[in-house]
Amino acid sequence: MEPQASTSGPVAWTRKHLLGLEDLSAQEITAILDTADSFTEISARSRKKVPALQGRIVFNLFFENSTRTRTSFSLAAKRLSADTQDFTASSSSLSKGETFIDTARNIEAMGADLLVVRHATPGAPHLLSKHVDCSIINAGDGAHEHPTQGLLDLLTIRQAKGSFEGLTVALVGDISHSRVARSNIWGLTKLGARVILCGPPTLVPRSLQELGCEIAYNFDEILPQCDVVNVLRIQFERQAKGLFPSVSEYSQLYGMTQERVLKGKENLLVLAPGPINRGVELTPEVADGPNSAILNQVTNGLAVRMAVLYLLSGKMESKGTGTGGDAPANEKDA
Ligand code: CP
Repeated sequence: MEPQASTSGPVAWTRKHLLGLEDLSAQEITAILDTADSFTEISARSRKKVPALQGRIVFNLFFENSTRTRTSFSLAAKRLSADTQDFTASSSSLSKGETFIDTARNIEAMGADLLVVRHATPGAPHLLSKHVDCSIINAGDGAHEHPTQGLLDLLTIRQAKGSFEGLTVALVGDISHSRVARSNIWGLTKLGARVILCGPPTLVPRSLQELGCEIAYNFDEILPQCDVVNVLRIQFERQAKGLFPSVSEYSQLYGMTQERVLKGKENLLVLAPGPINRGVELTPEVADGPNSAILNQVTNGLAVRMAVLYLLSGKMESKGTGTGGDAPANEKDA
């Protein structure tokens, strides 16, 4: 797949949903990153709240656990002055047999304008987008995509490296079961980076070359070429047993250690989407060391989610509840 060369120039936002980075153009991704940059600046102010989504209702529908994504979507919506509500699957009427779609339609009937959806089934947010009038944001669907994680990784790389042209980014670990990997692949290749997928052959299928990536099984061989290493968690909850001999052998071959950091480029940037397994995918020394941008990623997650909510608000169905998407762009500066 050829990278889309031009990422410059303003883009008129036309999308109602954010379901994945596969669907977005390089220009649309860049527009989100630019908008996130302006929200980063707002987050640094003493008065952080802006009225862009006043009167709007944002519902978090999480059918899988989350620390970063759920809380940062809630905080992002609050900073934009939306009303927010969390839905907890484990204590809901799903246990009485209510379906996923009926659940969402009932929440929409309470006036929800936007549903942030995490689900173990790939395509679940896409399915909902066909059954409700609300805007839908995919907050992670099975091993398919996690677009806001991909966007916050892109923002963190752009802040550290300036641009994507000429960058080599390795995604290391459990690529097969990782929705973060897919969103990173789509985003990075569209913006012009070289992407290498690296891990044990059982976790890095050769078929992913079709997405415009290179495949490598020897981490130490590719490490000196990398500007960025994004260390992906072993998704024990999604994989069959026996895909690699042992956790300690995996760590020896693919773990990001301080020794490996020193063998890499001087300004090697180490990312990890979290949660991290200290001592498995990376050592505590690397996670907390100067090359790590792990907590910057979390900070950027808030700005990215504010940007996505803000851009989608212009396309939300009007329910006559507030100014929201009709707010002029300069209102976010109020
Ligand atoms: N990176 C990420 O999606 O973290 P959570 O599962 O805690 O949301």
